Amino acid sequence: MEPRGIGLSGVDPGIIRELSGIYKPFIKAFKELISNAYDADAKRIAVNIRDDFSTIEVDDDGNGMTPYDFHEGFARLGGSTAWLRDGKSPGGRSRIGYKGIGFLATARYCQALKVESHAIRPFIGSRPIEGRGRKVIPLREIVGDLVPADLVKDKVAITRMVATSSTGESRRLSPKDFQIDNRGNLRITSARALKARAYTINYKIDCRHLLLEASLDFDYILGLEHRGDLRVLADFCTVRYRPAAQGARSHTRVTLCGLKDFVVRELSAPRTKGKARNIVFKSGKEQFLWRLARTSPIRDDLSEEFSGESLYRFRELQEAADLPMLVVKWRSEEPITLLRPLYLARGQAIPFEETVVPVEIDENGLRVSGYLLARSEIIYPAELRGISIRVRNVAIGDASFLGWEHILSGPRKAAMSQITGELLVLDGLDAADAINPGRESFYEENHHYRVLKRALMGSEESIGGLVNKTIKAVLDRSRVRSQVNDKIVEARRRRKVLVDISSAVNYYARVEDPSARGLLNFFDTPIRADGLASSRDVPTRPQHKLAGFELENRVGLKAEVEIDYQRRKVRVDFAQDTWNTTIYLNGHYYEVLLKQGRPDHPICEFDNEGRRIFVNWGHPVKLHMDDTGFLKSAILLRLAYHAAPRDADAMMNLALNMLSFRAE
Ligand SMILES: Nc1ncnc2c1ncn2[C@@H]1O[C@H](COP(=O)(O)OP(=O)(O)OP(=O)(O)O)[C@@H](O)[C@H]1O
Ligand SMILES: [Mg+2]
Repeated sequence: MEPRGIGLSGVDPGIIRELSGIYKPFIKAFKELISNAYDADAKRIAVNIRDDFSTIEVDDDGNGMTPYDFHEGFARLGGSTAWLRDGKSPGGRSRIGYKGIGFLATARYCQALKVESHAIRPFIGSRPIEGRGRKVIPLREIVGDLVPADLVKDKVAITRMVATSSTGESRRLSPKDFQIDNRGNLRITSARALKARAYTINYKIDCRHLLLEASLDFDYILGLEHRGDLRVLADFCTVRYRPAAQGARSHTRVTLCGLKDFVVRELSAPRTKGKARNIVFKSGKEQFLWRLARTSPIRDDLSEEFSGESLYRFRELQEAADLPMLVVKWRSEEPITLLRPLYLARGQAIPFEETVVPVEIDENGLRVSGYLLARSEIIYPAELRGISIRVRNVAIGDASFLGWEHILSGPRKAAMSQITGELLVLDGLDAADAINPGRESFYEENHHYRVLKRALMGSEESIGGLVNKTIKAVLDRSRVRSQVNDKIVEARRRRKVLVDISSAVNYYARVEDPSARGLLNFFDTPIRADGLASSRDVPTRPQHKLAGFELENRVGLKAEVEIDYQRRKVRVDFAQDTWNTTIYLNGHYYEVLLKQGRPDHPICEFDNEGRRIFVNWGHPVKLHMDDTGFLKSAILLRLAYHAAPRDADAMMNLALNMLSFRAE
């Protein structure tokens, strides 16, 4: 059969051009084909990118379209059938599409779209027909001429016929009143039926024997200039019918033909050298697969071994959802099944579980379930930062902070790079006035969106809500972490200074020098501290609390420190070397104690009987030095003084030597 043109009615070419511009970039247009397959109850969707990028096919095992469905639904602007079943697919899925412009999505990216479809279910139609006393009503008048009469003449069944009399009374006719003859025409066989002024005929057409092949010429339609061109729009879509194989299942195959150069360039782009962590720097293929997985209604990549407890409900919701498999064959590579990527904090120090802020909203008809994560690390890839909102299992736009990312500044803005989240809208937010045509964002004035935004972000005047709570958690963590870290660094530095002192003393006690002898002798002099010994201790370890968290001494800790954000505890093993305050001085272990002495107390005192060293933390010189510099100077100056008490030059020499000593 020759291909035939069918009309696209009543639209200005300019409008079509505008509409096709909604879906940017390519992947956001392409995902519409996946959405359509989902809406058609597909269990398996296969994407096939040809080796030379000449075509991309989307094959689905969904309900398919009869030629009539195709004409009424697909090749027509605004002809969505979503409204017929309360937004549900025949299989009971909540449909994503409802506007009937999705087929235009890919119009800017390829020259033509080919559609092959086969439906097992019959087309069901209804038509008012004038009576005028006709005995024979041609089939064409009932089912139209979309499919040539000889292809369907024995496939049409009248399921119900109602006659309306000239007085306006309606009466259902019985099968005895009419019949379909062998040419497929409707014959009115009873006298009373013939009297009717008009009929309403419900019919169904079995199209199982037909395979639809259609071609939509985008180059042609986007090339039209004027309103007047509308006359030629009939040429935009051509259809032909082929006999379907016996027992063939329903399916649809949509093929993008003649991909535009810029799309091919994008898809075949290599990854950006050196930069790897964010998706934008990846190769065209990786970007395509990642973005496709993020925008398609498929299962999340919640690996089996991942046992986040708070994900339990999330997992359950997903298992309950009827989600198709999406298999992609990229050029000559093996086909892969896509899973939707999300951030699970794999390999991070702080477990996923500890950073969860659960989200459960049930307000004014809006039901949302999910979570936010307040992470301690910066999230990579950056594309996973922000909150992803799924309506009817499809992510609306990219993850974001609903516009607040442009309002916040400073540390709170910075904290946003540590937040990710997944929200599933279970009820609401899916009316025609909720989501914009490209499914990129929500309409601000939508009631449910306002409810959601308030729950997440608080009121217009001040940020509150769950996101604020999450930001606070991030900032709180980084504050605690840096304060704890400061303490550890301080202790480590102190330990290092004590070890340095020990090396210096042990070295100079052995050199051939009179002051060395003095040093050796000093350790055996029975000397005792007086003033500082009785002064108040200056603790070298944090006491009870650290960064506002309860401090716990935990022997045998693996790490240097453990922060338990959930119980607000910091665990430190004070038995570790970092916290050691003893030093080894030529055969003796001394305990170093910091004391809050008076300004006129000595800078440091030795107690050779108790083997203790007291350092005067209240000495005025300390104000001029940092803690470790002071600690080192105080101890070594005092030692030099004891080693050469009667020789100022020798004392000075020894002090300077020991202070500047560097162990090999
Ligand atoms: N893969 C498919 N299998 C079966 N029917 C399909 C398929 N793709 C499209 N259709 C039919 O074509 C119609 C038009 O699709 P289109 O994407 O243009 O609009 P929509 O999905 O109804 O709404 P929206 O514009 O919001 O996506 C659909 O309503 C559906 O009936
Ligand atoms: Mg659609």
